[in-house]
Amino acid sequence: MIKKCLFPAAGLGTRFLPATKAVPKEMFPILTKPLLQYAVEEALSANLTNMAIVTNKNKRAIEDHFDQALELELQIKGTQKEELLKEINAICNYATFTYIRQKQMLGLGYAILTGKPLIGNEPFAVHLADDLCTSEKGNSVLYQMIKIYKKYQCSIVAIEEVPMNQIHKYGVIVGDLIDNTNDTYRVTNMIEKPTPKNAPTNMAIIGRYILTPDIFNILKQTKPDKSGEIQITDALLTQSKQGYVIAYKFKGKRFDCGSIQGYVKATNYFAKQQGIM
Ligand code: UTP
Repeated sequence: MIKKCLFPAAGLGTRFLPATKAVPKEMFPILTKPLLQYAVEEALSANLTNMAIVTNKNKRAIEDHFDQALELELQIKGTQKEELLKEINAICNYATFTYIRQKQMLGLGYAILTGKPLIGNEPFAVHLADDLCTSEKGNSVLYQMIKIYKKYQCSIVAIEEVPMNQIHKYGVIVGDLIDNTNDTYRVTNMIEKPTPKNAPTNMAIIGRYILTPDIFNILKQTKPDKSGEIQITDALLTQSKQGYVIAYKFKGKRFDCGSIQGYVKATNYFAKQQGIM
């Protein structure tokens, strides 16, 4: 049973400067809820109760959000506003939260490797909070992926078809379709951020993974790329050559909240859903 979810949240969020100078991108709200709370709720919906968060020294707001706020609670006690803290308080009481700091900015692969002491030697989920996904109730992307994991017991990446003019932002997979009722592929190749000309497919990896723990040793041996970053895509390619990695075309909708355009789109979508505009 997978119980742990790793949230790499140590990125600098430079696309959102100056907002990210003091506020973690993962704490940006879509309406009134921070991205990382949506993320934790998605993990809980997949029965993952152990939240392992990779942070850095500028991300203290994350720890405060998933902790009690006694002074604030006292202040609003007995008023209608108490209701506004009900959801987050329930999450804080139910889930466990552990943290580790990423000391060098060496990319997503390095962030995942940093999380190793919190995960140990067991399969785990990885969730990038800036990819905000919506899906049918009770069928979140992580929930869907864990169902696939139960069948194949190997690392799984969630994929989405993206327009070719966006492909340079993603890791891209090549694979053999193994189950067309489930849109699952056995990965045969992966390329990180190809040009449209070099992209073998438009099947892009999004910010959801199930990883088996051998990934940590592979990451340790993975060399940084041209930009000096250790890429999880490179480690997964090695893993796919040693055994099996599955790519799964998830059911649902994704907003790239790491970009200004995607963040605005998500805000508008949620506002419409909630009848605010
Ligand atoms: P991004 O690729 O969006 O990078 O990270 P970023 O630094 O957050 O943002 P920009 O590009 O400068 O605007 C995707 C996810 O991986 C985490 C981020 O926090 C985000 O959740 N991440 C990235 C880390 O935890 N550590 C890193 O070294 C890089």
